[in-house]
Amino acid sequence: MFYIGNKKVKIFTDGANLDSIMKLAADPVIDGITTNPTLMRKSGVTNYMSFANAAVNYSNDKSISLEVFSDDFDEMVEQAKILSKLGKQVYVKIPITNSKGEYTDKVIRKILDQNIKINITAILTKEQIDLATNIFKKDEFGYLSIFAGRIADTGKDPNIFFDYAYQRIESRQLENVELLWASTREVYNIYQAVLGNCDIITAPPEIIKKLALFNYDLKDLSLETVQMFKRDSEKANYIIK
Ligand code: E4P
Repeated sequence: MFYIGNKKVKIFTDGANLDSIMKLAADPVIDGITTNPTLMRKSGVTNYMSFANAAVNYSNDKSISLEVFSDDFDEMVEQAKILSKLGKQVYVKIPITNSKGEYTDKVIRKILDQNIKINITAILTKEQIDLATNIFKKDEFGYLSIFAGRIADTGKDPNIFFDYAYQRIESRQLENVELLWASTREVYNIYQAVLGNCDIITAPPEIIKKLALFNYDLKDLSLETVQMFKRDSEKANYIIK
């Protein structure tokens, strides 16, 4: 959990490196873990289930989100059942559409009916927020992963989407549905998330590390930056003449 005054946000680590998952899951600042097939492939994961089993074991009973990838709705349900059985802390990530652009709301409803916790992922539009918030019944548990970085890539302010989703969740009285800032690009996003209508932010380990700079003296940071330039110019034996 990260605090600014009385505002707080849960911090999840986003990645697929098992050493890093083990280390960060043991860190009291970290509240959970997220991953996806792209992150897994980038980390060199070759066997989905061995990775998933190991990640759940290393998760220290903290929330861990594992993603289905089938386009077929029945197969999605089967994948969700298998993943959810790995541990009670597992949230199954279901993209809001399959790769053909077909909305997954009905299949998510089916999975929720099996008492499986859901992380609805790849949400980028208000229409998708409406659809996602309409799926849940009052006491059901879930996350809505709004891909803030990808929204920001298009020149739009992600906080507008969180404000909208927050109002929807409030009006539907969904007390166990949390808003998750996904697709984090820089440490400043953690400050945006904590001050905005957001419950959780998931960030790569290298971004989480930069939280150590919170309130760091900017004059000192300026000096350290210039010292870095100096060190590198000397190491490279640069000469200007
Ligand atoms: C987390 O749950 C997401 O899978 C992740 O943040 C996606 O981020 P990206 O936009 O960098 O792919």
